[in-house]
Amino acid sequence: MREFKAILVTGGAGFIGSNFIRHIFSKKNFYGIVVNVDKLTYAGNLENLSDIKEKYQGRYFFEKADICDINKIKKIFNKFKIDAVAHFAAESHVDRSIEGPKDFIDTNIFGTFNLLEILRTYERNKDFIFYHISTDEVFGSLGNEGYFYETTPYSPRSPYSASKAASDHLVMAYHHTYGLPVVVSNCSNNYGQYQYPEKIIPLMIANILSEKELPVYGDGKNIRDWLYVTDHCEAIWQIITKGTIGETYNIGGENEWQNIDLVNVLCEKMAIKLGKEKDYYKKLIKFVPDRSGHDRRYAINCDKIKKTLGWKQSVTFDKGLDLTIDWILSNKEWIKNIQNKKEYKKWIISKYKKKV
Ligand code: NAD
Ligand code: DAU
Repeated sequence: MREFKAILVTGGAGFIGSNFIRHIFSKKNFYGIVVNVDKLTYAGNLENLSDIKEKYQGRYFFEKADICDINKIKKIFNKFKIDAVAHFAAESHVDRSIEGPKDFIDTNIFGTFNLLEILRTYERNKDFIFYHISTDEVFGSLGNEGYFYETTPYSPRSPYSASKAASDHLVMAYHHTYGLPVVVSNCSNNYGQYQYPEKIIPLMIANILSEKELPVYGDGKNIRDWLYVTDHCEAIWQIITKGTIGETYNIGGENEWQNIDLVNVLCEKMAIKLGKEKDYYKKLIKFVPDRSGHDRRYAINCDKIKKTLGWKQSVTFDKGLDLTIDWILSNKEWIKNIQNKKEYKKWIISKYKKKV
């Protein structure tokens, strides 16, 4: 089992990164420090970690920095004597990558390349590891049958997934060429607390709350595999501490849902919680033009991590959705603060103008 004194988390102010930082500090056998490096794009939010900042003074550090800024990042590595990197920082939203791919190329490809270049000459201790957090979207789109395996050839189809595929390849290339100790994981759709309300689950919950349209793309029959975010964080923890260097791991929920069924369930759960009739919110559902190049189905085979590291999902979808809705209902300010930002208003207006 690897032990770390200083873990650098890139993108730690985002959804999964902030949950991961919280998860690390919940580990009784972790005594080190965590350095959160984040550029604070529209998706980065320090509110996600305000309790952690208070509780772990002296063990939690925040550095506002762009991973594309090589000099600044180099200094951070040297200042904190980093011995593990969990690399989350990315542009993460597929729709935005269709609107404007450049930021995705800059951060996801060039930013990752920068980190790798720094690490080529960085003095690393024996347990050093660079962990690249990636997505199942690199594998492309499935029909009704089949699953993504670690061995499935890459076939990315959106600018987002192409940029993640490129960064995955760079990470593995630095392992094979320069001997950099790396691991990569490819995970399916996450949901849970602190997810930015542009992704389908928090967007639908926020819209139900304000009784706004619920835009379902195309015929609503696209399928995603859903995993509760803390289950993803535990998988990452197991891989970073016990995973085999140079390997890739699939992580998934084994929990496939058509989008329309998911939205119907959210409507029903919200109706119960807000004291309305079961079908009350379903009238808000609106089928809108499809996402360009919309991948039809994702489904993960995650036998490898289960068999080799003993990880398994622990939160059922029913429970996870309840936790997510309840968290939003008791943190309405968190959503409101985002909704009141100019950037979010602009994004939502453009989304609805296009009816997408
Ligand atoms: P997010 O958009 O919520 O957060 C991304 C974070 O990265 C933000 O805090 C942002 O400020 C930061 N960031 C962006 N560009 C940066 C830069 N140039 N320098 C430093 N920081 C920068 O994303 P997320 O949903 O938490 O996803 C995190 C990672 O997990 C991504 O790499 C994503 O590809 C991957 N992933 C996400 C999912 C999912 O369902 N959300 C599933 C599988 C994999
Ligand atoms: O599979 C992992 C990926 O999951 C991650 O790599 C990405 O970072 C993450 O954003 C997510 O990508 P998706 O495109 O699957 O997530 P999103 O929430 O944007 O969409 C989920 C499904 O819901 C997808 O089929 C599109 C559909 N959708 C989405 C939105 C935002 C709608 O029908 N209406 C919407 O308004």
